[in-house]
Amino acid sequence: MKALLFLGFVAVVSFGAPGDKYAGDKVLRLWLENEQHLQFIRNVSSSVKVDFWQPDSAELVTTNRSVDFRVDAFGASYVQAELEKIGLKYHILIESMQPLVEKQFDRNKINSTGYDYEKYHRLEEINRWIAKITVEYPTLISRFKIGWSYEGRHIYLLRIGRRTGFMKPTIFLDCGIHAREWISPAFCQWFVREATKNYGSDSTMTTLLNKLYFLVVPVVNVDGYVYSWTKDRFWRKTRSRNPGTHCMGTDPNRNFDAKWCSVGASRNPCADTYCGSRAESEKEVKAVANFIRKYKGIKAYLTIHSYSQMCLFPYSYTYSLTSNYKELDTLAHNAVKALSSLHGTRYEYGPASIIIYPSAGGSDDWAYDLGIKYSFTFELRDTGRYGFLLPESQIRPTCEETMLAINYIATYVLNHPY
Ligand code: ARG
Ligand code: ZN
Repeated sequence: MKALLFLGFVAVVSFGAPGDKYAGDKVLRLWLENEQHLQFIRNVSSSVKVDFWQPDSAELVTTNRSVDFRVDAFGASYVQAELEKIGLKYHILIESMQPLVEKQFDRNKINSTGYDYEKYHRLEEINRWIAKITVEYPTLISRFKIGWSYEGRHIYLLRIGRRTGFMKPTIFLDCGIHAREWISPAFCQWFVREATKNYGSDSTMTTLLNKLYFLVVPVVNVDGYVYSWTKDRFWRKTRSRNPGTHCMGTDPNRNFDAKWCSVGASRNPCADTYCGSRAESEKEVKAVANFIRKYKGIKAYLTIHSYSQMCLFPYSYTYSLTSNYKELDTLAHNAVKALSSLHGTRYEYGPASIIIYPSAGGSDDWAYDLGIKYSFTFELRDTGRYGFLLPESQIRPTCEETMLAINYIATYVLNHPY
């Protein structure tokens, strides 16, 4: 009993402190030109531990594209030496990881004037914020629980919009499908704040909230998010157990029932793009999918990821274009134009299969095939300078510019009923 108490105490004290775990870690970028380069990066993972940042796993690496990956100090010197040998040029995106990681774990996240939207928050803080803002805006916000995670945490959804007796067109917005993409939950919180703050004063937001509902899930992959704060800053997947291996978790964005695991996903539970044992095997995915299936009136599905500055739309699981390709392309073009107008941030847009890589089991394709014809994945800032470690000083500009794109799409959806 004493030993248990002691262990509990140690766990509390070390909670969330990254220690010096990332000392010496680097992020490198390569440009792969030929088969030899491709083989190199595929083989290197067997000698050193490589954490792929962009694309999301070794399986998705191809020639004529860049690869961003994190390696530890030992790995970095090995990889760098090997790269010199084969004459493959590389770029050091992050020379020293530790200080960047530490900054994001600073305490004092809650200042006296209220919630600080320009900081990253751990899950308990976000959940307290969810409870508080729901109470503060009883006429605009309702809180729902859409399910439980694998480890038994609630997954919350906020419905935002002026309450009416009748059905309104609805826009579904989720964040935090991937754990390490911290800017994503930060955006969902920013969105809710802007909506509540601007209702009644800003004419665009007032119209949107009068005529639409927004359903916002601030953190889908709650277990993964907690894990990224407590154990591994670069965790991506859920935290479910996989039989027969110590490797845990499934990639929730490969686990939706959209040509599940047919392409761009891995059957290996140790991979970061593991598709799971079957479609919707993950409780978090099932919770989102069940909610969307039974809630009638969802006209747009928006999902927020990072990084690479892209506005993506279906399909991912095939190179074929959707029947409304032209409309989606124009919509994405204009959304990105609105976004860029604020700080000049450049975004690419197009079908994900073409713009990044083909991959099945994504939430966007699944929502589209369910009949939600406006379906977009946003990959927020940046393009690799900081990657998943986007500094808190960029939360504001990132969220402000993204608001313009989301509001553009929402207004379009409102004016194009179906
Ligand atoms: N980086 C995201 C991922 O790999 C891109 C999502 C695009 N959509 C998709 N269905 N793959 O999950
Ligand atoms: Zn992601």
